[in-house]
Amino acid sequence: MLKRNSCCPPVRATPTVLAPPAAASRLARRALALLPLVLIIGCGKSGSTDGVHTAELTPSGIGSEGPAGPSGIPPGLADDETGSIQGNTGADAPLPAPDAPPHSSLTETPAPDQGDEPTPQDERFHTTLERPILEDPPRPAIVPWSDISEEEFAAGLPAPVVIAPPDHDFDSNQPPLFPDLRNVTVVAGEQLELHLAPIDPDGGIAGQYLKELFPGATYVDNFDTTRTLVWSPLQPDVGIRELIVYAVDPVEPRLRVAYTVLIKVVLPEDPTSIVNHPPGIDRVAPQTVRLGDPVVVQIKGTDRNGTIPRVEIADYPADTTFMRHRDDPRIRVIRFVPTEPGTITLQAIAHDALDPELTHRKPIVINVEAAETFERSGERLRDLASARDFHIGYASSTRPYHRADGGLYAATASSEFNIVTPENSMKWDRLNPTPGDYNWAAADNLIDFAQANDMRVHGHTLVWYTQLPAWVKETRPETRETHMRQFIERVLERYADDVPLWDVVNESLDRNGGLRNSIWLEAMGPSYIEKAFRYARDAAPDATLLYNEYDIGWYGPKARGLLRLLDSLIETETPIDGVGFQMHVDADFDRFHELADMIDEVSSRGLDTYITELDVSMRGEQTEAQQAAVFRGVLSVCLEAPSCKALQAWGFTDRYSWREAFTPLMFDREYQPKPAYRALQRRLAGN
Ligand code: G3I
Repeated sequence: MLKRNSCCPPVRATPTVLAPPAAASRLARRALALLPLVLIIGCGKSGSTDGVHTAELTPSGIGSEGPAGPSGIPPGLADDETGSIQGNTGADAPLPAPDAPPHSSLTETPAPDQGDEPTPQDERFHTTLERPILEDPPRPAIVPWSDISEEEFAAGLPAPVVIAPPDHDFDSNQPPLFPDLRNVTVVAGEQLELHLAPIDPDGGIAGQYLKELFPGATYVDNFDTTRTLVWSPLQPDVGIRELIVYAVDPVEPRLRVAYTVLIKVVLPEDPTSIVNHPPGIDRVAPQTVRLGDPVVVQIKGTDRNGTIPRVEIADYPADTTFMRHRDDPRIRVIRFVPTEPGTITLQAIAHDALDPELTHRKPIVINVEAAETFERSGERLRDLASARDFHIGYASSTRPYHRADGGLYAATASSEFNIVTPENSMKWDRLNPTPGDYNWAAADNLIDFAQANDMRVHGHTLVWYTQLPAWVKETRPETRETHMRQFIERVLERYADDVPLWDVVNESLDRNGGLRNSIWLEAMGPSYIEKAFRYARDAAPDATLLYNEYDIGWYGPKARGLLRLLDSLIETETPIDGVGFQMHVDADFDRFHELADMIDEVSSRGLDTYITELDVSMRGEQTEAQQAAVFRGVLSVCLEAPSCKALQAWGFTDRYSWREAFTPLMFDREYQPKPAYRALQRRLAGN
């Protein structure tokens, strides 16, 4: 563990940057999440404590003992996110930035208990008629900045954190600085202008970027190498929060320094002097629903001043039921059952809590179509697939039955697919967002839906570098294996009987075919993959255990990396049963023979294969016909390979897709089949 030098006096990092012990302690806790890349600076002389190198920041730069560790590229600059050909673009950085509340002392956390058990929801709040829908126990909201004390604020700017490539030579290239930063206080209702002017001790022009921008703030380019954060906080912003800003070296962009500025927002002496802004209403996208299905719409009133507007609904159908949301007083829920086709335009009107004359109006459009509109010719995909002992599937959006079109979503999915993956609801940040708290409802509901419709469930995903809760990212490296094991055991203890197939490890490779940086690699080394599979096998002896990855369906360094990884897992007799090829591709994809070869390579190692996350984005001038050809081509490869057990699309309607803008799926936003659907239908039928 990082040792704090208790005799360390406050060190003047620059004429204005102080790092006294309290602040250093806070940053030290955060720095644990960044091991081994991080140099903690500003406290004492250069030295190494259990793998963390410390160094002293002076106005002229940093003194260092040498490399910070074996890892590769630091967070935010990883080059393995976009993939070489059709890669993912939405993935998170591989290592966490120092932005989460500290839980680094956790060695283990309480197992789930009765307090985590979901309970049936009042049926008026959802669109599923046949079965009860479960919801999780209410949880207190997580306020990320709430643990920053007045003492920490008063202690001055926390010590900056240097992030450097492992072999960086600090003698020849010193890290950039923000010489003028200090913690700031701003009065709610007034405007903060924080000038951000990095310098490079070596004389170049340093860059900068923010970890994230507060809602409502702007990050203005002054076109003179500096930027200004402009923010007008209001009543809900009162408290102390962090702004994390990186100074970037002009020559070596992987050399960066993360500065944490504490911003305190206080109320003015007369809080009524703060301007009362009009309320708002969160957008509800136009919906297409099926005549006769219940329609449930959640309408959220908002107010920048933090009051709760009264939401009125006008022009609603007869027999509409009005309800308050259980957990969020800003949300009004309405439910009705349309009795005829046509367009219903509800009017939502928010009235300001302090001044009811101050209003905001928003139309909500519901397009009601007769059931026949959604009838499709030919046989259903699942029937065609089942006839060939094959599985055709989709990834389920979270909580579809809480959307207006939930009935249609469920009916389409259950009629077309015989396997389903939870798109998000089994990820660690969803299941176990805070230590000892488990949210099971979304996964339970999906399993119940699948069982009611005779579908298999494909669990996704146990060990991944991202979508981790903040508390996991902040754990000490030496405790992580315990947390990994406990998560696997707890999830499989609940679901092993119902979920026969699991993505055990997801996306461990970088674009060059090496292991990507992650909190798991950092803490456990390359053996984390093998260990994850062993823990999963122990907890679910009968399950099919997969390694799931993107950009491995065609030749290249990543595909070669996959085969090396598989060989090493086989060498150690790791209990792996198969590989998931994600296949997030574009409509001009044509490397089908390479996909076939890769599937052959994997099956020649005695492993099953799955197409796990197929979607085919249409970009530029690409056409639905091209898209259909890709769906068909990928399906053909899979059907022709005895090892390939399923083709699973990453969603089914363009309305709910992570790449919604590129309409990558087989049904359009109105649940009408696209050429891709017909192509799958024909190919499954053997044509
Ligand atoms: O549900 C919240 C919503 O309440 C909130 O208002 C909104 C604001 O951002 O966020 C919503 O959650 C988002 C969620 O998708 C549902 O839309 C998350 O922020 C967002 O991070 C999440 O993205 C998912 C992503 O994985 C990261 O987990 C995508 O839906 C999901 O399609 C994508 O799936 C991954 C696979 O798991 C692994 N392979 C690649 C694939 C595509 O990136």
